[in-house]
Amino acid sequence: MKNIDSKGHVTGKSIYLDDIPIIQGTQFGVVFDSPVAHGTITSIDYTKALETPGVIRIITHEDIPGQNQIGGIILDEQLFASTEVHFVGQPIALIIAESNQIAFEARKLIEIEISKKDVIVDPREAQQKDELIIPPRTFELGDTENSWENCAHIFEGQADSNGQEHLYIETQGAYAIPMENGHIRISSSTQGPTVVQRTTANVLGIGMHKIEVDVIRIGGGFGGKEDQATPWAVMAALGVSILNLPVKVVLSRLDDMRMTGKRHPYSSDYKIGFSKDLKIIAYETTFYQNAGAAADLSPAVMERTLFHGTNSYFIPNVKMTAYSCKTNLPPNTAFRGFGGPQGMFVIESALSHAAKELGIPTHELQKLNLLKNGNEFPYGQIADGVELNSIWHEMESKFDIGSIEKEIDEFNSSHTDVKKGFSLMPVTFGISFTKTPMNQARALVHIYTDGSVGISTGAVEMGQGVNTKMLQIAAQIFSIDSKCIKLESTNTTRVANTSPSAASSTADLNGKALQKACNVLLERLTTCAADHLNVSCTDVILKDGMVYTNGNKTKLTWDQLVMIAFLKRICLTENGHYATPTINFDMNKEKGHPFAYHVYGLALAQVTLDCIRGTYEFDAVKIVHDFGKTMNPDVDFGQVEGGLIQGMGWMTMEEIHYNDEGQLMSNTLSTYKIPDIYSVPKTVTIEPLDTEGTDMAILKSKAVGEPPLMYGIGAYFAIDNAIKSFNPNFTSTFDAPFTHEKVLMGLHGSLDFE
Ligand code: MTE
Ligand code: HPA
Ligand code: MOS
Repeated sequence: MKNIDSKGHVTGKSIYLDDIPIIQGTQFGVVFDSPVAHGTITSIDYTKALETPGVIRIITHEDIPGQNQIGGIILDEQLFASTEVHFVGQPIALIIAESNQIAFEARKLIEIEISKKDVIVDPREAQQKDELIIPPRTFELGDTENSWENCAHIFEGQADSNGQEHLYIETQGAYAIPMENGHIRISSSTQGPTVVQRTTANVLGIGMHKIEVDVIRIGGGFGGKEDQATPWAVMAALGVSILNLPVKVVLSRLDDMRMTGKRHPYSSDYKIGFSKDLKIIAYETTFYQNAGAAADLSPAVMERTLFHGTNSYFIPNVKMTAYSCKTNLPPNTAFRGFGGPQGMFVIESALSHAAKELGIPTHELQKLNLLKNGNEFPYGQIADGVELNSIWHEMESKFDIGSIEKEIDEFNSSHTDVKKGFSLMPVTFGISFTKTPMNQARALVHIYTDGSVGISTGAVEMGQGVNTKMLQIAAQIFSIDSKCIKLESTNTTRVANTSPSAASSTADLNGKALQKACNVLLERLTTCAADHLNVSCTDVILKDGMVYTNGNKTKLTWDQLVMIAFLKRICLTENGHYATPTINFDMNKEKGHPFAYHVYGLALAQVTLDCIRGTYEFDAVKIVHDFGKTMNPDVDFGQVEGGLIQGMGWMTMEEIHYNDEGQLMSNTLSTYKIPDIYSVPKTVTIEPLDTEGTDMAILKSKAVGEPPLMYGIGAYFAIDNAIKSFNPNFTSTFDAPFTHEKVLMGLHGSLDFE
């Protein structure tokens, strides 16, 4: 099935938040935010702003009837700063005016005085000052302490990865409308409608039942709208509750970039030890996560860093400690991979470091240490269904790693100013929300009397194609034309208590809930048909919109059967509920079985460096990916391509820069670069691994949203390897992103720009 949104997207007919028709009387909100990163507000004067014609009202913390609190995991984040400010971009007030333009103009007239305090932007400094979001956590397996003496080779170093701006095409926003009896209906560009509903109710001091959140689709989320879509929706709803008028709050791109958190930058130390035959015996690492000024999702992100700290390798002795460090930056948040990529970058750095010292290619070390069935992850889960060796084998047989290596060597020895490099990047990613209770979902299915079908689930369509997958499931179970099925918006009134669409689990969780609901309805209709045709239930099947008995087509159509069932007063609505079985995790022991299954894959990246300019181009990326049995190759291949490019952007060109005062310097699209058509690899080849899949995945089609992002990590090491063949004295810094400037310095030693 083609992605059901393709046509709407390319013809501009798909409806996003900003396409929702504006109701008469709608007011527009612009956020006034802190200009300094840390301090105490000593005075604010709104007089001039309020005198601006068209300004209706300015809302502050004093106007909040419930709690001035939007923290999800920890209650440490105010909706509007009351006295203390903790980052540049922290909301202080909402200016509500007749138009956005008026509100923007009024914002310039607000006079604020803040007595400044010390600013911390570096996570290691925060850790030293004991500024932590939560106490540190440690995952341990075996005994590292007593293993070092058994190691033939030990390497130690540091690896840093920077943040990443989500840059969803649709910025954050919400539109809230007053309903009767103090109820509010919010259209929100959120991955988590229930998070918005719960937080709004809490801030307004009312029950969740009075808040309805609706999401048609969002223009990209990438994790940035798992929690951080919430404040704008709450502000709009607060405006509604005060003014009893519709209020729309949509961030401008620059406001969005300044005010919202990003991928967490990490600084990490590693120590890795090998036996004589190059098996990894011990691995220790300390992760310093730059959490920003409030917890947001940082504790959960930090946990996933620990889960994926050993990536695709089995290591018998592991000790990984992580600190979530509180700094004066916007609270960093979920971003595709959710801490996993940051953990993987460190072990890949350690392996690259070791390989260089040992004088062998990194891929030999990687291959020697691949995880196998029966191996224990540092968090206690026993690996099963591991595909890494077959994937590696597939890569070798399909793409011939050996001859690629040989070609590159030959090229490099015959070229002086241009060098090539390649890398291999294996990925093992756990599927499930790491917080077990979040792994549940519901779906509501109506069959209308004409035989058409309406489906609601908790899944939010953000471009990842989940609606197409939901439609496929229902069409397949009912065996009717998908044109007769409508996917409704995601709405808290139809499907309640949803987890955000995240953790790559949306299709699994919601799809399985939908499957259950559809199957119940199917059974009801089959029974009804059997009754009607006077045959046994087991002799009836519904196929291609017709009723079959004993394999023979009858004259009875699906539509007629539905009407017969209705007249017999059979219920044509069903609610399905699914909770992932078998998963658990004990945070006291830091052990358990947190993931329903793992997704595996391997990417080979090839790069060409211009050694005069320090620029580079990726010639090709070849991927062997474990889709299980993909239920929609178009959608899933699209996810692999998108994830790869987004990961490459993080590793190569996207450079977030805050100055020491906590000001975002890369605050526009002229100073923050993401991959475009010119910087993507010349070819991307995706080879699906032929596997059985797992029953834990919907229709055995494994989750695909996040894992491919981590293929992008290979880009860093491909460049690193190419530099080595130009400058043998080059010492890798493992400091991503590998911008052209850093490449130039790596090629020529330190550059004196003076
Ligand atoms: N693909 C598109 N086009 N847009 C997005 O915002 N988000 C990613 C991934 N792929 C995203 C995307 C992230 S962070 C996740 S967790 C998954 O999609 C969420 O959707 P899924 O659970 O259906 O895979
Ligand atoms: N992934 C994404 N979002 C989450 C997770 C996770 O593992 N846990 C809690 N929120
Ligand atoms: Mo994705 S980071 O789990 O929204």
